[in-house]
Amino acid sequence: MKQIDGLIYAEIAERQTQPDPNRDDILSLLMLAQDENGEALTPSELRDELMTLLVAGHETTATALSWALYWLYTDDRVRQNLLAELDALGTPDDPGALFKLPYLNAVCCETLRIYPVAMLTFPRIVKSPVEVMGHSLEPGMAVLGSIYLTHHQPDIYSDGDRFYPERFLERQYSSFEFLPFGGGSRRCIGMAFAQFEMKVVLSQILSQVELTLVDTPAPLKPIRRGLVSGIPPVTMVSKGRRDLSLQEN
Ligand code: HEM
Repeated sequence: MKQIDGLIYAEIAERQTQPDPNRDDILSLLMLAQDENGEALTPSELRDELMTLLVAGHETTATALSWALYWLYTDDRVRQNLLAELDALGTPDDPGALFKLPYLNAVCCETLRIYPVAMLTFPRIVKSPVEVMGHSLEPGMAVLGSIYLTHHQPDIYSDGDRFYPERFLERQYSSFEFLPFGGGSRRCIGMAFAQFEMKVVLSQILSQVELTLVDTPAPLKPIRRGLVSGIPPVTMVSKGRRDLSLQEN
């Protein structure tokens, strides 16, 4: 923690002594932000914001991307479908076109459904007595939503242990049925960013290199890693470059 704090505070101090108005990275934007009284964030508040982005935003998305690659390279059919979609997209004029690709979206959703990186939501504390599905909840009780169990309810997801992106093309799931980013007013603040990042990274990797899984026992199961669930070590090697037009983007 001391080492990370040292790096972050040094970066903040450097930006304060040598401000560069042309920078538009997240730290620069946070340093420009002011509240209604014209006050900027203090160094310790800036440090907390950066730590949140790093801790909540880095490992979660990295784990989801690793799972996506694992599934894509254990199922040739899914990978070929996705490659066909990416190939047909070519180099679009609209930079948002990638985000709207239905099969790419389905692959990302199914990755986050089958092994949600966050198995549980953060806790909610009951404020006043309430009954939920026959359970009486009293003030002060902590309640957590199980994302994993919801994503494996047989009446919502048939054959729920199977990686099958098409289920997201065949029907629309409500926010009570599919909730990899939690729900309500405390839903993940990085949801849109994470989804976009997943799509950009996956499409770039898939369109540029041909990978293969090495020494990976199937089926792979998630492992517990602190607050989130992780993926066991997976080795992938490159078999060569691909030449899809998307690599220009
Ligand atoms: C695939 C990637 C990600 C997954 C699966 C994920 C999942 C979640 C979940 C389940 C929650 C709890 C929501 C609730 O209790 O209802 C959460 C909260 C949060 N996430 Fe993410 N997250 C991801 C990426 C990110 C990114 C990229 C950022 C920041 C850039 C981020 C920042 C946060 C923050 C700050 C909270 C707390 C929100 C609050 O309490 O108001 N997450 N995330």
